[in-house]
Amino acid sequence: MIERAIPLIYLGAAASFVLALKWLSSVPTARRGVIVGIAGMALAVGGTLLRPEIVSYKWIAAAFVAGTVIGVPMAMMPMTAVPQRTALSHAFGALAAALVGTAEFYLQAPRIDRFTMGALALEVLLGFLTFTASLMAFGKLQEILPTRPITYRNQNVVNLAVLGVAAGSGAYLVARPEAAWLFPVLAVLSLLFGVMLIVPIGGADMPTVISLLNSYAGLAAAAMGFVLDNKLLIIAGALDGSSGLILSVIMCRAMNRSFTNVLFGAFGQVQEGAGTAGEQRTVRSATAGEAAAILQAASRVIVVPGYGMAVAQAQHKVRELFDALTKAEIDVRFAIHPVAGRMPGHMNVLLAEADIPYDRLVEMEDVNSEFPQADVALVLGANDVTNPAARHDRSSPIYGMPILDVDRARTVLVVKRSMSPGFAGIENELYHLDRTLMVFGDAKAVVGNIVRELAGGGGN
Ligand code: TAP
Repeated sequence: MIERAIPLIYLGAAASFVLALKWLSSVPTARRGVIVGIAGMALAVGGTLLRPEIVSYKWIAAAFVAGTVIGVPMAMMPMTAVPQRTALSHAFGALAAALVGTAEFYLQAPRIDRFTMGALALEVLLGFLTFTASLMAFGKLQEILPTRPITYRNQNVVNLAVLGVAAGSGAYLVARPEAAWLFPVLAVLSLLFGVMLIVPIGGADMPTVISLLNSYAGLAAAAMGFVLDNKLLIIAGALDGSSGLILSVIMCRAMNRSFTNVLFGAFGQVQEGAGTAGEQRTVRSATAGEAAAILQAASRVIVVPGYGMAVAQAQHKVRELFDALTKAEIDVRFAIHPVAGRMPGHMNVLLAEADIPYDRLVEMEDVNSEFPQADVALVLGANDVTNPAARHDRSSPIYGMPILDVDRARTVLVVKRSMSPGFAGIENELYHLDRTLMVFGDAKAVVGNIVRELAGGGGN
């Protein structure tokens, strides 16, 4: 009787996943999207636990405990480590798909129909390669592994050959499922290809690659849905696969890179030292008190947050600054670059956490025309996304990347701790402009001091 409810529960779960994705795509509805996504997953798990094929809950309970023991500390990882945490999640999801595929092969072969074998081969190939590739991506982002791209002659040819033999083994198994000896070849080469895929990719491209791996893990889950004849897995896997792919495309566009350049371009190696060599150039610096005075005299301020704001966890102090300036009838907006920080939507999440009104956040395409009218561009821990070299310096590794035109504001205040470069490892010519003042220090401390100065409380 209760089994009859399973399709309905699955339908509810699938609808929740679709709504979650829809709501997650805009800041005001994102929180709702998260809650509906969790509800959808609870329905999916609950519905599956009702399936009559389950003969004992013992191993399921053991897996539940193991998952909780691993999952809870993962959820506690700091906000700045979200990309590597996501890589680990994909590794586990993909491993699960690959292991289910392996178990199904040994249960069903050689009496397995061609369609199921095809889906199973795809599931195992994508599952195992995503597993090792995600672990490698985690290692690079966590800096356990060298972050520089490692390249050698004919690397792409070797990689494609390994992938070709793995895919060929899968295709042969579709035609002749009794050739079970080929299955371990498929599994091992897929694992190997995952490692080889990531070796030539630099740390700077890891977030894009992780989003692509997200897509592979989704496709592996969809293939698993065909193998197990589970429609919810097919729907959830397809949603996961397509959203990961769309996100990778958006990130590539925001960095002015092509997919092939990310996967085969060994970005992060060529730019070593680029733009950092050369003569010592002067910079002008200011204290928090001076910065407060400049802000107080302004009528339009554009705040440009970047990775440094996330590192400093300065968002709540930024909210206090926003309140103080708004109270003084100064127009304050936030310029959001699509790849500021280390993950998509990084700045939106932090500013939303500090309850900055959404209508004050302006996307790059809309805000760029406003910089020439801005009295002050206040750059908080952003670097690469403000580098004017991207507009004109053909030798720069970030040439062509769309940037925020902060250098067109009347005065630029840059808050960062030192002259160290950002993610791309290159010097920022913004810091040497006449209109730029550097306010050195941790973003949280500096913004806190500016707020105190504005309130007339002193501090520096
Ligand atoms: P970055 O260019 O990485 O610069 C961040 C700056 O923050 C650094 O120069 C650093 O300078 C400063 N900083 C660090 N800790 C700080 C603190 N506690 N207080 C104040 N400042 C601090 O950041 P961005 O401008 O946001 O650009 C993002 C970069 O990441 C781009 O190159 C982008 O292509 C890349 N990327 C982003 C993504 C996504 S999806 N967001 C994905 C892939 C790659 P100091 O050390 O001197 O303080």
